[in-house]
Amino acid sequence: MNNPVVLITGALTGIGHATAIAFAKQGARVVVSGRRQAEGEVLQAELKKLGAEALFVQADVRDDIQVGRLVDQAVAHFGRLDVAVNNAGTEGEPGLIVNQTSESYAATFDTNVLGVLLSLKHELRAMTAQKSGSIINISSTYGHQGAAYASVYAASKHAVEGLTKSAALEVASHGVRVNAVAPGATDTGMLDRFTGTPENKAGIVSVVPLGRLATPEDIAQAALYLASEGATFVTGQVITVDGGKTAG
Ligand SMILES: NC(=O)c1ccc[n+]([C@@H]2O[C@H](COP(=O)([O-])OP(=O)(O)OC[C@H]3O[C@@H](n4cnc5c(N)ncnc54)[C@H](OP(=O)(O)O)[C@@H]3O)[C@@H](O)[C@H]2O)c1
Repeated sequence: MNNPVVLITGALTGIGHATAIAFAKQGARVVVSGRRQAEGEVLQAELKKLGAEALFVQADVRDDIQVGRLVDQAVAHFGRLDVAVNNAGTEGEPGLIVNQTSESYAATFDTNVLGVLLSLKHELRAMTAQKSGSIINISSTYGHQGAAYASVYAASKHAVEGLTKSAALEVASHGVRVNAVAPGATDTGMLDRFTGTPENKAGIVSVVPLGRLATPEDIAQAALYLASEGATFVTGQVITVDGGKTAG
């Protein structure tokens, strides 16, 4: 990679944070985004310490105007946008379908689906104009599998994969690629919240053929690949990184 400009949403924690560090170490110029200004400034300083050019822009991905401003500021600051990792996501309010409400639906879909749609909308505006770019949406193995007690989350990630494939078809002729990474259980705050107890979390490892949780860095490596020159003929695809769990 030749100093690409990379935008990452939900970059303050977990997979987004590891992805920002991984791109910075490859020499990328990094635009990191999240909802919390003070933590964002800490991350910007952390990336600069690694020698990267870095910019934090505060944005809530549910807000069309804020996402538009995020992309505009990235382009104004660095002159272009080469890669975007649409990572911001929430587990919402897991539980039985019979207990779901329009509010619990919105708590998940507004971030996971509307957030990715708005991110795509503004990123594609910049990338189609420059006739190049690579977008990586963060889905989940639940983007192509059912999940009892997490139906709304699973439905939202199925939607992310539908958006990914549709966007890829829409913009292929403009030189822009759109793919997704589907992590299996990854050791982040979200997994802690999903599992609730250390015992539940340990139980997940027993069903992973490679015998461990993914690290956030494992997921970042897949994003690096999809952004790279090695993936220039890959679009509309979902790369699952789950230690073999969905192979069976
Ligand atoms: N961990 C797993 O096992 C796993 C598995 C499959 C897929 N994933 C996906 O991986 C992605 C990253 O999750 P993670 O595991 O790294 O968990 P995480 O540490 O909770 O990261 C999620 C990030 O998204 C941000 N975010 C949430 N809502 C947002 C909004 N409306 N606007 C802007 N930012 C928002 C969060 O910021 P706040 O702190 O402000 O909420 C947080 O920094 C998510 O899309 C998740 O669905 C995770």
